[in-house]
Amino acid sequence: MAKNSDSLLPDSPWMDPLDPFLGVSPQIQSLRADALKVAQGNGPVLIQGETGTGKGVLAKWLHWAGPRREAPFVDLNCAGLNPDFLETELFGHRKGAFTGADQPKRGLIELADQGTLFLDEIGDMETGVQAKVLKVIEEKRFRRLGEVQDQTVDIRLVAATHQNLEKSIRLGRFRRDLFFRISTFTLSLPPLRQRLQDLPVLSALILAELSRELGKPGLTLAKLSIEAMEAHRWPGNIRELRNSLERAAIRCEDREIWPEDLGLAGGSAEATPAYGTRLSLAELEKLHIKRVLEEEGGRVTDAAKRLGIPRSTLYVKIKELGLGGE
Ligand SMILES: Nc1ncnc2c1ncn2[C@@H]1O[C@H](COP(=O)(O)OP(=O)(O)OP(=O)(O)O)[C@@H](O)[C@H]1O
Ligand SMILES: [Mg+2]
Repeated sequence: MAKNSDSLLPDSPWMDPLDPFLGVSPQIQSLRADALKVAQGNGPVLIQGETGTGKGVLAKWLHWAGPRREAPFVDLNCAGLNPDFLETELFGHRKGAFTGADQPKRGLIELADQGTLFLDEIGDMETGVQAKVLKVIEEKRFRRLGEVQDQTVDIRLVAATHQNLEKSIRLGRFRRDLFFRISTFTLSLPPLRQRLQDLPVLSALILAELSRELGKPGLTLAKLSIEAMEAHRWPGNIRELRNSLERAAIRCEDREIWPEDLGLAGGSAEATPAYGTRLSLAELEKLHIKRVLEEEGGRVTDAAKRLGIPRSTLYVKIKELGLGGE
């Protein structure tokens, strides 16, 4: 991995070495300045940003750049988990706490002691579980399911969401008290379309990685490709950029990537998606789901987020529409 003299990239193999602040845009540089300060603190952090902007990358970096870096980084994606499962994952249980609890189990909160607990998609957490998480943050104590004694714990909570939590509060889906507790330090990742000047730096780094992975040294972008990228809206943000560069790196015949290799919807070649008005709604739905799944590299969780439907619904649709590869 290329290393800037002043960029804080980890060397240790146990850490994701991605630098969340690649680029020259004022947005990303001011985020970097804020994040450097926040990393040294101990209070909860909320990371906001659209899908694919790098919230997970930033959460790992915060752990790595702060005083807890030698302690565990434990993460859990709360999306699509039922509340009972989420509770046992977080709090653990004693042997016999419920049918099927044959062995005692330590929860993630316990495992993260002295370190960082990263709760991804906290906006998807059910309000009952939210209340219990709030107690852990406020009292630094938790209780395994089925036990009567609290245990103390020292964790730093980093939470992320792509949702607008203020709106979720109005809808009664997110607790106001938890929001106030976690939002004192909020770091917002800008969408890629608001930092287009960072495209060359981001692409260069991702291409260097792809060159290594694919054994295709010297991959470069033609000038026209940068222009096509600047004209694109990047709804899937850096994830979409990576997917598009990966596809292009595989497709391109020599080492230079041309706009048509990138396959960007909205670019000149594919400006108008082939959505004929003769399509029925069902056909249109199938086409759209197929396309989003392709753009997200087949990742159902990411595709569901972009489509604005629960992951379980997308699974049902994939099955019904015969889109599943597996
Ligand atoms: N700074 C970066 N440098 C290189 N690649 C990055 C960077 N940020 C994000 N990526 C790439 O984009 C992908 C998405 O990043 P990440 O999972 O952190 O986004 P996210 O905001 O958590 O998305 P989601 O809301 O869908 O969970 C990662 O797999 C990574 O490959
Ligand atoms: Mg994420």
